[in-house]
Amino acid sequence: MTDTKENLTQLREKYLASGFASARPCYVKKAQGALVWDMDDNEYIDFAGGIAVMNVGHSHPEIVSAVKNQAENFMHTCFMVLPYDSTIELAKKLCTSVPGNTPKKAMFANSGAEAVENAIKIARYYTKRTGIIAFEGGFHGRTLLGMSLTSKAKPYKLGFGPFAPETYRIPYAYCYRCPFGKEYPSCDVKCADHLEDFLISHTAPETTAAFIAEPIPGEGGYMVPPPEYFPKLKAICEKYGILFIADEIQTGMGRTGSLFAMEHWGVEADITTTAKSLAAGMPLSAVVGKAEIMDSVHPGGIGGTYGANPLACKAALAVFDVIEKENLLEKGKALGEKLMSGLKELETKFDIIGDVRGMGPLVGVELVKDRKSKQPAPEATKAITDYCFEHGLLLLSCGTYGNVLRFMMPLVTTDQQMEKGMEILSDAFGAIANK
Ligand SMILES: Cc1ncc(COP(=O)(O)O)c(C=O)c1O
Repeated sequence: MTDTKENLTQLREKYLASGFASARPCYVKKAQGALVWDMDDNEYIDFAGGIAVMNVGHSHPEIVSAVKNQAENFMHTCFMVLPYDSTIELAKKLCTSVPGNTPKKAMFANSGAEAVENAIKIARYYTKRTGIIAFEGGFHGRTLLGMSLTSKAKPYKLGFGPFAPETYRIPYAYCYRCPFGKEYPSCDVKCADHLEDFLISHTAPETTAAFIAEPIPGEGGYMVPPPEYFPKLKAICEKYGILFIADEIQTGMGRTGSLFAMEHWGVEADITTTAKSLAAGMPLSAVVGKAEIMDSVHPGGIGGTYGANPLACKAALAVFDVIEKENLLEKGKALGEKLMSGLKELETKFDIIGDVRGMGPLVGVELVKDRKSKQPAPEATKAITDYCFEHGLLLLSCGTYGNVLRFMMPLVTTDQQMEKGMEILSDAFGAIANK
């Protein structure tokens, strides 16, 4: 890098749209495993993983070599014109990895939002119905349909309407702030039964094509539902012929300690979307669904110029290999346990921590002004992520109220990196508490 940080910032301000924003004024020079270096050689421990994309770690040598080798052979023919083997191999891998025994088929696109768009297209085509139900606090991307299904107004929707019609929302099982004012387990998970009332009051089953669910809402705040929740929702969908779409764009590819989060609850989705860590940074997304549903669409009805790009497919095949060879699901679970115990310890020291929750190495920490009122503390959340950045730790926040710290580190994070990261985080809490 020959430019200076100041010069790049000036050029960025001049030539890049303000809406296309970055969290930090830090220009990356190199990233490896769970570490990132900026142009001034500052080193950061990465607890953000490019927003849950780098589960196998930055620039893993096997992914790099798969992409390099493919680039030397060919970079694009468009799978819709001239196909190649890696896409077929990857489809087989995905169809046999997504939970459930029903035979599956796949299609590929470039981004998570595109996978969501395609999943909805397919669901509508198959059911001949139009309505889509999503969660309050859900995030499904920035395209028209993606943001219509997303329920955080700022920054995702404000000023971008009108939104796509026939999208509806029910509350998620946000147990820390139960939307029904109940407590688990005495609640009997009534929040799931609510779907049935909703089908009477808002959108009749006869016109409802699909229910799209993030297993654990990413932008919404990393809430973990009670074990009965998804099996109950799925049963209601089945009863009314409504397709259940699991949006595993963020939770897939090992993020929760299993390859896909739905495995935790033994739920077979009708359609699953995945992206992010699928190809370790190469743009690739997939829609994997029951064969009968996927095959209902006529040839050419779904696809795109770059879907199933050969570099991205080779990278994704290498990701599957690395997860298996390096035992990353087990490593991820162990990482999650360490993280959880470190955070639980912080919870005993800092009253600002209202809730620590997670599944495997996907963990959220909700910050509140006080534990009784549970008033969200977004300013303190920002102060903590700022402190961490200034001291060499990349950490992002999420949550409807912007008050949840979210942990998405690569699964290859070493014990030493984890300890150092937790030390910085603990100091950040200490610095905030002393203000
Ligand atoms: C659950 C979920 N769905 C969809 C998307 C959209 O993915 P992309 O940003 O690749 O379009 C995201 C991205 O954060 C996501 O987490």
